[in-house]
Amino acid sequence: MTTAKLAEPLSLAHGPAWKNRFMLAPLTNQQSHADGTLSEDEFRWLTMRAEGGFGLTMTCAAHVQAQGQGFPGQLGVFGDEHLEGLTKLAGKIAADGSVSSVQLHHAGIRAAKGIVSDIVGPSEDADTGARAMTGAEVEAARDAFIRAAQRAEKAGFDGVEIHGAHGYLLAQFLSPELNRRDDEYGGSLENRARLVMEVIDGIRAACHPDFQVGLRLSPERFGLKLAEVRDVAAEILRQGKIDYLDMSLWDVFKEPVEEAFQGRSLMSYFTELPRGDVRLGAAGKIMSATDAVQVIANGCDFAVIGRAAILRHDFPRRVLADPSYVSPALPVTAGHLRDEGLGEVFIAYMSGWKGFVAEEGA
Ligand SMILES: Cc1cc2nc3c(=O)[nH]c(=O)nc-3n(C[C@H](O)[C@H](O)[C@H](O)COP(=O)(O)O)c2cc1C
Repeated sequence: MTTAKLAEPLSLAHGPAWKNRFMLAPLTNQQSHADGTLSEDEFRWLTMRAEGGFGLTMTCAAHVQAQGQGFPGQLGVFGDEHLEGLTKLAGKIAADGSVSSVQLHHAGIRAAKGIVSDIVGPSEDADTGARAMTGAEVEAARDAFIRAAQRAEKAGFDGVEIHGAHGYLLAQFLSPELNRRDDEYGGSLENRARLVMEVIDGIRAACHPDFQVGLRLSPERFGLKLAEVRDVAAEILRQGKIDYLDMSLWDVFKEPVEEAFQGRSLMSYFTELPRGDVRLGAAGKIMSATDAVQVIANGCDFAVIGRAAILRHDFPRRVLADPSYVSPALPVTAGHLRDEGLGEVFIAYMSGWKGFVAEEGA
């Protein structure tokens, strides 16, 4: 087994090539200021990953409207007050030789209770108390994604990733369970996919031709049907307007939950799609050099690294230096995470992920 392929640069249809096949996954860390401006802790966490050798350094999910905030301490990209911090961040990531991207996010019905008072989504939702968006509000959310991309471009980012995964607003529209609208944004799959398509088109039209546009999708949970998500992905790959598709699978080696699709990996339903010049990556439990090599061998163009990048800021550098590299065993101490550039708020957040951080005195 060799890691040589992982070291190869990745060219994309628009914007700069990545120097290798490693993308830092978007990782919410709650370290921003209450108004969404960047903090020193968030700057340090991300720029250490750029220094650690990631070809693409992605921010955490950043909300495009105040109403779309999903977490306390979330990074904002909804106002010009965010430009100063974002500009400083983009500059340092570039200086470290990494391509930069902001993940554009709207939480929809999953907005943070206690922070967002008027929670909205495609349809009303009894569990969260969300109300259905009016047609004008859907258009305003779409335009907010586009304006946020322009803001990221102005700040000097190489591109953005549209967060269409994990049951947030764009995935809520895709879901036949959560989207029960009877206007042009609901009903048929084409209508349910209209919002994400309009966001892609709008960003392409509003930003510079060299601006790199990615899309993140996840194919399971939140009422999504694998066959439908595969069809949406196939159409987006066919249109070739995005530069890369980032499939969030939570485990790149697992089989689908839906029985009819079992017998092979969930990832294979996406690697087999014709993709033209669009690049494909996947995230989920890539914890070692072997795992990263396998993801490429199984048909992806790049590997998306989440928890292994929290554990070691220089996962790419370590993998490329040592084909037998394996992430540190869990749980790790708070001290270990501190040394890897996590602030106290992020360490506390990771303590909520079962088995990740060792309890004090344990
Ligand atoms: C602490 C934490 C925060 C995350 N935040 C985001 C996020 O902001 N946006 C997103 O799309 N996914 C988010 N995810 C999902 C990751 O990007 C990734 O897809 C997932 O963790 C699986 O990859 P891994 O097994 O390498 O961690 C988060 C995951 C973790 C563990």
